[in-house]
Amino acid sequence: MSSKILDIVQAGAPVLRQQAQALSPAEIRSAPLQTLIEQMRETMRRAPGVGLAAPQVGLGLQLAVIEDHAEYQQNLSEAQRRERGRQPIPFQVLINPRLTMLQGAPVTFFEGCLSVAGFMAMVPRAAAVQVDALNERGEAVRIQAEGWYARILQHEIDHLQGRLYLDIMLSRSFMGIDNYARHWQGLSLAEVCQALQIDCPELAHSHT
Ligand code: CO
Repeated sequence: MSSKILDIVQAGAPVLRQQAQALSPAEIRSAPLQTLIEQMRETMRRAPGVGLAAPQVGLGLQLAVIEDHAEYQQNLSEAQRRERGRQPIPFQVLINPRLTMLQGAPVTFFEGCLSVAGFMAMVPRAAAVQVDALNERGEAVRIQAEGWYARILQHEIDHLQGRLYLDIMLSRSFMGIDNYARHWQGLSLAEVCQALQIDCPELAHSHT
């Protein structure tokens, strides 16, 4: 029923590489779509994850859900939370979103994806974005976000356009989550970039 947990597809599933279809206000308000939103929310919470896009459950629709709980952030120190600009985000539905980058200088952190299970990599993202979208009632909403919220929005909206973080990651930083925890989790960006011999975008900026 509505609490059903959906299967999350992995990289290689064609739907993850396709442009998702926009939804009309009537489709958004339909019972099947409202059920899908509930199922995506429960699937995201169960995973657990901070975002889930419809292509990840095998549906090429421009729909994503996001939510970042304080309890998901407990493995980060206060300094790491501050550095990432990571604040709790209440549950939110994004439909037919349009993304505008507000700040060009990239910010690089490790991120992962439920459709690339077991791995992480450093991904440069815009520090601040604006998103115009429809909510679960088909109403227009405008979101301005920075920090980790901006990163989640860019990651999920990429899913709706057939993109994965793999396309823009600093590929030398790609690693299993166990090795991340064992070797890299406590290091600063500068230390990681030096050890992996990566030209991190924001460090490159600082010496131009
Ligand atoms: Co993802």
